[in-house]
Amino acid sequence: MADKYCALPSHGVSRPTRASRSATYEAPPNIALVKYWGVRDPTRALPFNSSLSVTLERFRSRTTVRFDPALRDDVVDLNGAPATGGPRDGVVRFLDRVRDASGVPDRASVASANNFPTASGLASSASGFAALAGAASAAAGWRLSPRALSQLARFGSGSASRSIFGGFVEWRAGTRSDGSDCYARPVFPPDHWPELRDVVVFVAHAPTKEVRSADAMQTTVRTSTEYPRRLREIPARLRAMERAIGARDAPRLFPLIMEECDSFRSVCETSRPSLDYLTATSRAVLAEVRAANREADRPVAAYTHDAGAHVHVFTLARHLPSVRRRLARVAGVDRTLVVRPGPGAHPVGGTAPPRPPRRSR
Ligand code: DP6
Repeated sequence: MADKYCALPSHGVSRPTRASRSATYEAPPNIALVKYWGVRDPTRALPFNSSLSVTLERFRSRTTVRFDPALRDDVVDLNGAPATGGPRDGVVRFLDRVRDASGVPDRASVASANNFPTASGLASSASGFAALAGAASAAAGWRLSPRALSQLARFGSGSASRSIFGGFVEWRAGTRSDGSDCYARPVFPPDHWPELRDVVVFVAHAPTKEVRSADAMQTTVRTSTEYPRRLREIPARLRAMERAIGARDAPRLFPLIMEECDSFRSVCETSRPSLDYLTATSRAVLAEVRAANREADRPVAAYTHDAGAHVHVFTLARHLPSVRRRLARVAGVDRTLVVRPGPGAHPVGGTAPPRPPRRSR
């Protein structure tokens, strides 16, 4: 077994070659429709529940890793500046895992850049660690299947496991204690539902996240009396969502997305201390989506949010102009940006910085 911690499959793992020292990967963020929130085994980074997400087009983290025998310490550069503290420690811990598993002893230089603002409400830890998993394993000569890459990526950030794949992605929690049945898998490809849109609603004065989600979720596990019920409800909700996505059935999917988001928010708010990620503007956006559905007398949009104040509003192309107009009117909304499902992580040949996204469509 190549990795004594995470039960990565040994097939497809080759011994590192000293020649392949450097590699670059790009990876996208994703937005969870069913949230990962709770770790059942921190050593193996195993979640309590399976989750489901949409990989987002246009946004990218691009990461280059070079293992270099001349380096005395890891050098980590994030968005053009040397990383320090928690962000650096997370990368170094991840590199240690790759060194341990691949047998490459060298320190590394890591350069990572996003084509979207870090901490903008788009999960930069998902895209960042998915890109790091791809680049670090490839630079170490450790050839992993996409599934094994998803198993590695979760050690950086749970949601990163899903960013390995494009389109609609399920991260299966699995039941085995060694984690061998815990991995992400693509459910539907990016072009499965061409009419689906995600309007990312950026709210003004969004507070920066002080506690990593990986830590905050354990407060919920320990203290929220609603958490056990949430865990019981998730499997049926996830299956229903996959069926609705399969049938491209927005009137069935949209209420499920909001129900799940409300469940996530409720276990956060009933945690002690309470976790409140939204601002008054975020809440006004949720209310606006409910009003749009009420007025249309059918579900034309669905809101969801992660552990942050920005809101993602799913809708269909034909409802986009009216939905977007409504959202832009909410006081405190900075701007909206429309994205579709996109492709997953992939290696790149060059090291040029990723292109910035077009503003809107
Ligand atoms: C609410 O695994 O991304 O976005 O370790 O802090 O990076 P960090 O946490 P992460 O947690 C994701 C929590 C979530 C839900 C989700 O994306 O499934």
